[in-house]
Amino acid sequence: MAIKALRGMRDLLPPLSEKYRTFLSRASQLAENYGFGYIETPIVEESLLFTRSVGESSDIVGKEMYEFVDKGGHRVALRPEGTAGVVRAFIEQKLDRQGGVHRFFYHGPMFRYERPQRGRFREFHQFGVESFGEKSVYEDASIILLAREIVESFGIGYTLKINSLGCPRCMGPYRQRLVEFLSVQEGLCPDCQRRRLTNPIRVLDCKEESCQEIYREAPKLLENLCDQCAKEFRELQEILDTEGLRYEVDPHLVRGLDYYTGSAFEFVSGDLGAQNAIVGGGRYDNLVELLGGRPTPAVGFAIGIERILELFELPPRERRGYYIGTLLPEGLRPALHLATQIRRREVGHLEVKVKSLRAHLKGADKLNLRYAVIIGEDELRKGSVWIKDLEKKEEWRAPLEKVVSEL
Ligand code: HAM
Repeated sequence: MAIKALRGMRDLLPPLSEKYRTFLSRASQLAENYGFGYIETPIVEESLLFTRSVGESSDIVGKEMYEFVDKGGHRVALRPEGTAGVVRAFIEQKLDRQGGVHRFFYHGPMFRYERPQRGRFREFHQFGVESFGEKSVYEDASIILLAREIVESFGIGYTLKINSLGCPRCMGPYRQRLVEFLSVQEGLCPDCQRRRLTNPIRVLDCKEESCQEIYREAPKLLENLCDQCAKEFRELQEILDTEGLRYEVDPHLVRGLDYYTGSAFEFVSGDLGAQNAIVGGGRYDNLVELLGGRPTPAVGFAIGIERILELFELPPRERRGYYIGTLLPEGLRPALHLATQIRRREVGHLEVKVKSLRAHLKGADKLNLRYAVIIGEDELRKGSVWIKDLEKKEEWRAPLEKVVSEL
């Protein structure tokens, strides 16, 4: 039986791969405009990195991690997300000791053993940014504005949801209050019964209607923020207002990773079905310290590239490049020589099958090329080529060497 790609994993080929690269190139350019530098970290890391950062009680680590013991006996994992690896690199390169602000962007494959469905894959790709060393709420705002810039540059509609997950000072007492509330509730779904013990705040974004009914009466996160967190969250909203960025405050937005503190946000799309989050991010001021570095405030986001690609189309490509073909076998050598020179500067499709002129022109048209350059018997004898501009519908003859010098 033929071997197939694993469930939830896909090959990326043209034309989708073209869209993918267009997205990456524009998103990278915008991230650079915002002062972010490109970082690459390994796809495989010690499992412990994710257990500590994303959190043992999170679904991502608890249920979805691709984990194995390597030949050296180390417990390793395919990264389920990008933040943890960037933080590890930040500490390992001692940037936490340098002080100042460090901003990085990255993209690449992430792995989560989830049940595949529309917009949810086991191997998927993220484009992410992480900013270290800046506590100001203006950094949170800048990051959200960068996400908006990327999403809007592809003409994609969205709703921005924001929330504040507080700091250890306000979250400790809040968690206690929530646990007390949950302990006397009946009829929670099995997931929430488990979360109530392992990660109580996560119950708030349960998708079960019956659970949501119960949580309407639960203590509210935003009403329990300390003065500092409440002030910062108000300020963030004011900045977004000034920038004309519309948002919804969603007190049940708690995110699926444990490292968040302070602002959290998601961009969701109405055109995607159940898996509608296209960007997720927020502040994680304690993570660098938790992973052994010096206390360093940080904030970032990641975009799900597969989901974004579903939401825009590339404009039709203009005709460009050259099609080089010949009507007789002896024409192949000069055709290859010409193609090689053209290809140094331009797209050059060499047709190595000898065909009729009509067949060549049809081929050039199908490939959306601008010029068909054909070597026939007459041209071969005279050292020239026959050219047709497939856009202007003009045709002419030219000496072979002139074609290259006039490219
Ligand atoms: P996340 O919300 O888990 O956050 O993932 C970010 C985005 O990745 C989601 O909004 C979604 O678009 C996409 N995504 C997640 N899982 C899948 C999947 N199975 N298939 C397809 N797309 C998926 C993080 O990963 C954080 N590291 C974001 C962050 C960076 N926070 C701070 N800095």
